[in-house]
Amino acid sequence: MKNLLKDNKVLVEKFRSIRTPFYYYDTELLDKTLQAIKNETDKHQGYHMHYAVKACTTPKVLSHITKAGFGADCVSGGEIQACLDAGFPASEIVFAGVGKSDWEIELGLKAGIQYFNVESIPELEIINEIAGSMQKVANVSFRINPNVGADTHANITTGLAENKFGIAMEDMEKVISLANDMKNIEFVGLHFHIGSQILEMDNFVALSNRINELQDRLERNGFQTVKNINVGGGLGVDYANPDENPIPDFKAYFDTYAKHLKLRPGQQLHFELGRAVVAQCGSLITKCLYVKQATAKKFVIVDAGMTDLIRPALYDAYHKIDNLTSNAQEDVYDVVGPICESSDVFAKDYSINATKRGDLLALRSAGAYGEIMASQYNCRSLPKGYTAEDII
Ligand code: LLP
Repeated sequence: MKNLLKDNKVLVEKFRSIRTPFYYYDTELLDKTLQAIKNETDKHQGYHMHYAVKACTTPKVLSHITKAGFGADCVSGGEIQACLDAGFPASEIVFAGVGKSDWEIELGLKAGIQYFNVESIPELEIINEIAGSMQKVANVSFRINPNVGADTHANITTGLAENKFGIAMEDMEKVISLANDMKNIEFVGLHFHIGSQILEMDNFVALSNRINELQDRLERNGFQTVKNINVGGGLGVDYANPDENPIPDFKAYFDTYAKHLKLRPGQQLHFELGRAVVAQCGSLITKCLYVKQATAKKFVIVDAGMTDLIRPALYDAYHKIDNLTSNAQEDVYDVVGPICESSDVFAKDYSINATKRGDLLALRSAGAYGEIMASQYNCRSLPKGYTAEDII
């Protein structure tokens, strides 16, 4: 199996002259991924992709995504601004989040975003008030908590009744009626999201069934068909095999909705994929500082830490590690960073080509929730993000 990174000798040679740690984004793979999504959404009428910007906002990455014609799903004023700067049309931006500040609501209204995904009645009232003071009408969609579990890590499950997100399904009639009576609110959609890194399509079938039930019920109770259904994101990637499966199975994903979700005539279906769009195209490149033989273990100590990629420490996440500059026989190490926290571990008892000081290692599938979640703990610099265009 060809290794998409390691076998690119010219690229690895260029990496040697760049200060580590840094993120590298394979924009050729990104473009292929975007095309694969487009091929599928084009097959179905009324399907629209809003890239979940929270996964990665590196400007070059955003610019490839906007050029592919995608909209954006934002969760903060900062993300809205980053999208506007990258050239996303405001009319294709949707804005979610349980705690929108007044200035963020104002920014959304001023820019003319497509709609707000509203998560509570107090938020709806404030959006109505702010829109009124600006003499505008805010388009709103309600984020509904479908109480559907997802087979994923507990920290990234969002659609259960116990989670802080969304409004209960039972309250929908009340909330829609409230919105219909508000002068500065236009009710335009229903929004859902059940979690992240979901690989079992059954979860999306369950969500489709819940949406069907809700739509049937709303119709029975005399409510008009809503313009948009937004099913959020959540499609996972193959972290174990980034070279075998660099592009997620978008066909299975979109076909699941096409088969199970009963859209009403003219109804538009919105998606907010983040991870599936960008995870596989990004790698964190780091350098081995020391190989330390301890009593029971051998450690590869690298110059990237949990400040650069927090997923292993926070979610026990697996990222494949390649030694880009060694073909020596494999050895077993704990790969750890320099941060003063015992959770600063990328992998335990991990087999990689025998490693020595100065070797370059890649933590693969790190394009989503990698660079964007970096911190400056220990007064460290934030890692830079480069694309092929920057390097070659
Ligand atoms: N829409 C909403 C409302 C969301 O909350 C999220 C993710 C998405 C879309 C995009 O989900 P995706 O397609 O990327 O699964 N930091 C965690 C993931 C947190 C996801 C939060 N919400 C991680 O590194 O695994």
